[in-house]
Amino acid sequence: MKRVLSGIQPTADSFHLGNYLGAIRQWVALQDSHDAFYCVVDLHALTVDVDPKVLTERTLASVAQLIALGVDPNRCTIFVQSQVSAHNQLGWVMECLAGFGEASRMTQFKDKSQKAGADRTTVGLFTYPLLQAADIMLYGANLVPVGEDQRQHIELTRDLGQRFNTRYGETLVIPEAQIMKAGAKINDLQDPSAKMSKSAASQAGVIDILDEANVNIKKIKSAVTDMGKEIRFDEKEKPGISNLLTILSHLGGKSIPALEAEFAGSGYGDFKMAVANTVADYFAPVRTRTQQLLTERSELLAIIEAGAKKAEVVASDTLARVYANMGLLPRHR
Ligand code: TYM
Repeated sequence: MKRVLSGIQPTADSFHLGNYLGAIRQWVALQDSHDAFYCVVDLHALTVDVDPKVLTERTLASVAQLIALGVDPNRCTIFVQSQVSAHNQLGWVMECLAGFGEASRMTQFKDKSQKAGADRTTVGLFTYPLLQAADIMLYGANLVPVGEDQRQHIELTRDLGQRFNTRYGETLVIPEAQIMKAGAKINDLQDPSAKMSKSAASQAGVIDILDEANVNIKKIKSAVTDMGKEIRFDEKEKPGISNLLTILSHLGGKSIPALEAEFAGSGYGDFKMAVANTVADYFAPVRTRTQQLLTERSELLAIIEAGAKKAEVVASDTLARVYANMGLLPRHR
């Protein structure tokens, strides 16, 4: 069975619609056909200011949401990154392999550091993609299901893996990104030219999957739409409507042409109401299940503990081979 690895940051109280449609939906789909490892990347969350109590709660809520969305701990390995120390260890190796210029070209770093300013940008934010490369290569992942915004990080991972193998002999598996054709970039409802993001200045255009139905219905009803009246998929001329069509198509299970036909002659208001109701109905059970899982804290912690044990076995084996091939002394004889 081929390996899959992906990760998500616990940096918000709830995942948003982009996280689900771009990434988690794929995680669920791949868990039976692949040996899948999915991690909540709490170390990556440390690259920005965190409140310890909030981080703990968000980490637990992230695991609960993954399970509620259909990532099944009996069919894959769900774990928390900081509990497997090999991530930091291989992360350092990746930092020593990557060029400063190469890391400086990462667009996510450039965007985020520009917004925060040099003094508030941590060194961790700079080395973030190298820890991500370690996350992936520790598990010998063949596939990495992610949204479009992670493409460059996976390319960097591939380059580093190839560099390692050329210098030190075949050791690391070179992964491939798996990015959906549609849904890989869900946009902000208020600014359809920008991706939906937890770090957006305003949350008015971000649909949090754990929010109450009425909150999300209101946000969708006030989504920015485009000139004209037609419900038609055209990302250039009608980015707002196209984004809503993408969302409705994925959550409602109908193709975009079928939806265009269904809403021919309808106004934007009716169309938005259909999107709002579909979103609300889709995530209502996820919200209930997440809340329930969070009340069963010891069971949740047991799942996380079991995941760490399974991940540890694979990760420490890769790390030992990496260290040995680089000439670091073995600890046990
Ligand atoms: P993060 O936590 O920002 O996002 C998690 C996943 O959601 C996808 N995503 C989107 N997809 C479509 N439309 C959007 N608007 C949207 N916003 C986010 C992301 O592409 C991602 O797949 N660096 C990663 C976390 C990470 C990781 C890894 C991923 C750490 N180690 C190893 C894969 C493999 C990140 O910040 O994701």
